[in-house]
Order: sequence, then structure tokens, then C-alpha cells
Amino acid sequence: MSEKLTAGDLKSDLAKAHAWALAPVETAHDLVRNLTGVYQSLRDLDIGRYDPARLAEAAAIGEDFGYDEINLNVGCPSDRVQEGRFGACLMREPALVGDCVAAVQARVRIPVTVKCRIGVDDQDAETDFRNFIDTVATAGCRVFVVHARKAWLEGLSPKENREIPPLDYARVHRLKAERPDLTIVLNGGLGDLDSACGQLQHVDGAMLGRAAYQTPYLLADVDRRIFGASGAPPTRADIIERLIPYAGHHLAAGCRLNNIARHILGLYHGRPRGRLYRRILSEQAVRAGAGVEVLQQALAVAEAGAGGAVAPAAAE
Ligand SMILES: Cc1cc2nc3c(=O)[nH]c(=O)nc-3n(C[C@H](O)[C@H](O)[C@H](O)COP(=O)(O)O)c2cc1C
Repeated sequence: MSEKLTAGDLKSDLAKAHAWALAPVETAHDLVRNLTGVYQSLRDLDIGRYDPARLAEAAAIGEDFGYDEINLNVGCPSDRVQEGRFGACLMREPALVGDCVAAVQARVRIPVTVKCRIGVDDQDAETDFRNFIDTVATAGCRVFVVHARKAWLEGLSPKENREIPPLDYARVHRLKAERPDLTIVLNGGLGDLDSACGQLQHVDGAMLGRAAYQTPYLLADVDRRIFGASGAPPTRADIIERLIPYAGHHLAAGCRLNNIARHILGLYHGRPRGRLYRRILSEQAVRAGAGVEVLQQALAVAEAGAGGAVAPAAAE
């Protein structure tokens, strides 16, 4: 990369695209397209690339931006990612992934983690997977988030690669039993907190992908159920009310409302006015100049009849 990126460049672009869960940050991706793939979650920066020096540079920018963790993506099977020689195809190159981890760790102070599959294509999910983990662990990675299925790199879309290769939780459980010193987080197919809590009998952590996105309110009970917090979980209305000042702050910084609103489209999933709530957000948050009043309107509609909030004329 001839042009040198500054942390300010990346901050400025990331500030325009706030993801709530793991989701692409297109503007940042454009910015660093010659450097790496960049995705933003709440607290970790998910990066993918095969070049240790450039990865380390991206990681340093992410650390400077304020992330708590750098996560190397060795699980994405998309064609675009394969063309860039990163994501799941790197399961075949454990030594290179180890070099990437070591280079990033040498550059940043925050933890460096790896998200991977249990293999790709015809790899052996026992020996090849163990070799991958051991090689990358020897290079210094202590935390692995394992999507408990293979990726099939030919012929399946990314969506199909989240559904068709069979889940093998037992393989991830064995990994934890064999390598108890490593922190192992299981991912894949966990649809609710009961499933996630069940996995905690076998591994150190559980990661929800689509469930957290489609039915985000299930996360409201995580503190109580898993971390021992007392008190009632926040209501859906509490969550939106807390989000409004956050959204206002980011709108003032040039962010579009939809970059925030799209991550709470599922908040009222399964509730009486959930579809209307979703429609208001999805139709109005994309409009130029949309402000926090859209959140307020969606909240009022969703809570109409629930004791207090008044629905505007557009309500069902
Ligand atoms: C829309 C979407 C975007 C995703 N983006 C990323 C990503 O940026 N990085 C990543 O490691 N995984 C990403 N994933 C994969 C999820 O992290 C997770 O591994 C996958 O959805 C399987 O978990 P689940 O069955 O709980 O959904 C994405 C998944 C979806 C549906």
C-alpha cells in the first residue's frame, strides 16, 4: 500500500457506519480495500487478509481507534473473500495464519483472536483441524471462536454455507477437552439463550450470529442469566430510549440513521405491532435527513396499548 492510512482516516469512516453485530462496514472496507477486509462489531475489529505486515498495520489502526480486540476472520467462505485469499480458505494455511497472528500480536497490545470453521471441503475435521488450532495457538493465539461446521468453498453461497454443511458441536467440545488451556467459543445454529447456556457446559463461550440479529431482545437477559446480574432486564422501550441519544450523537457526526436502525429491526419480532414497527424503521430510516424522530415514532407504534406511549395516525 503506497498511501499511508491514518487512524483519523479510519475513525472518520467507521464513524459513519456503526454496526451492532458482526456486519460489513462498507465505507471502511473501501478505505482499506488494498489493505484488508474490515468489519466492525461492538467491541472487536474483525479483519481478514493473508499478508501479516498489512494485517498488523490494519490492527494497529483498529487499536488506535479504540477497539478492545482484534479478530482474524478465517471463517468467511464468500467468493470475494476467497479471491482476496482470506477467510475460510486460510484453514488450509495454518502456518500463514500463525504468521498473521504473530505479526498482529507484535504490533498491538489488545488481544488477538481467531474465528474459524472446523475445516473446509475435504479436510479432516479431526487431524487437519487439530493441526490448524495447534499451529495457530503455538504462534500465540489463545482464543478461538469456532463455527462448528465446515465451509464448502465450491458451489455454496455464504448463506448456504451457514446452513448446509452439518453442525458438529461434538468436535468443538472435544477441542476444548483436548486443549483446556485455550479459550474456545462455540458458534453456529444457536437460536436462543437456552441453547447458548447449554453449550457453556462444554466450552468457554457461545456466540450467537443470526439469532442476535433477528431476535435481538433475547440478549436483554444475558446479564442476568449468564453473568449473574440482579434486577429485571431492560424492556424493549428502555433499549430504544437509551439508543436515541446514542443515535443523536452519531447523526450529528454525519452517520445515517439507517446504519443504526437496521440493527434493531427485529427488536419487536413476534410482538403484536412488531411488523408495523419494522416497516416504519425500514422505510423511514433510509430517507435522507431521517432523525431520531423515526425511532420515537416506531417506539410509539410498537408500544401503543402497552400503557403510556401514544401511536401516531399511521398506526395499524
Ligand atoms: C449478515 C451476516 C454477516 C456476517 N458477517 C460476519 C463477519 O463480518 N465476520 C464473521 O466472522 N462472521 C460473520 N458472519 C457469520 C456469523 O458470525 C456466524 O459465524 C454465522 O452466522 C453462524 O452463526 P449463527 O448460526 O449463530 O448465525 C455473518 C453472518 C451474517 C448472517
